[in-house]
Amino acid sequence: MTSTMPSTASSPAHAVAGRVSVTPGFGPLAFAARAWFVAAAVGQGIFALYVLVFYGGAVASGHPERWNDVLSRGHVPGDGVGNLVLGLHLLFAVQIIVGGIVQCLPAIRRRWPALHRWNGRVYMLSATTLALGGLYLVWIRSGSAGDAVQHAGVSLDALLILVFAALSWRAARARRFDAHRRWALRLFLVVSGVWFFRIGLMLWILANRGPVGFDPETFSGPALNVIAFAQSLLPLAVLELYFRATAGGAGLRRMATVILWLCVLATFAGIGAATMLLWWPRL
Ligand code: HEM
Repeated sequence: MTSTMPSTASSPAHAVAGRVSVTPGFGPLAFAARAWFVAAAVGQGIFALYVLVFYGGAVASGHPERWNDVLSRGHVPGDGVGNLVLGLHLLFAVQIIVGGIVQCLPAIRRRWPALHRWNGRVYMLSATTLALGGLYLVWIRSGSAGDAVQHAGVSLDALLILVFAALSWRAARARRFDAHRRWALRLFLVVSGVWFFRIGLMLWILANRGPVGFDPETFSGPALNVIAFAQSLLPLAVLELYFRATAGGAGLRRMATVILWLCVLATFAGIGAATMLLWWPRL
């Protein structure tokens, strides 16, 4: 995967011998994109820390049943396969979050290209494992939180992960680095889908000063259904706007810059709410 930094790929000045330059731009759009990446790195770092400390801590202390304090179908005695798939899911979750942030740093790719390649391979393996394992947990093990519409939403996310991982890998193999970068950034966003779901939901609750549009007891309702699909589709739409803006006119760039700054604010607000309401209380 390559940088989240602004596209320079469409500029001939930045394309050298068919390779996409790693030099980020310095305009307002580039600055807004960097700011969003900083927000995402902070928020995903907190999410990874929570997974490691809460779920890893439960296993390390010999009490995996503590997973059930959070999950509707966590550690189930006698369900060896299901427990293993869930355990690997949580392990890969930490790996992919850290690996994704590392992979997006342009300095790493510039200075240690071999690390970028190996981390990218591991990232794609983790993404595939998480998507397939997630589908197993939702549809075969069953009993996870949410209704059928939410399950369809997160399954769409899983399918997009599988497709984008394959397209990103194929483009890198063919040394089509501009296409690789675009597919890899799309992959990064859909891999972040479950994180978007959490910060999006907490932002919704914060904005409405309570659970509006869904039943917190059954964890179902229209608001959750919308967020379940928005977790992958909304970030992808903003990314497409960003791609077009980097090659577009001044008006489009201004609009994309404003939207990105709104995303930065919303992301920080969502991270704050998720940290206070979801993650911190469990640590
Ligand atoms: C690719 C990135 C993913 C990451 C980083 C990730 C991370 C996590 C984490 C941290 C949990 C524990 C729940 C919590 O404490 O918040 C979890 C649970 C779960 N995940 Fe994922 N996940 C990913 C993808 C998916 C996908 C694509 C699916 C479905 C297709 C999925 C299905 C599930 C299910 C069913 C649970 C158990 C939830 C429950 O019992 O209520 N995950 N995941």
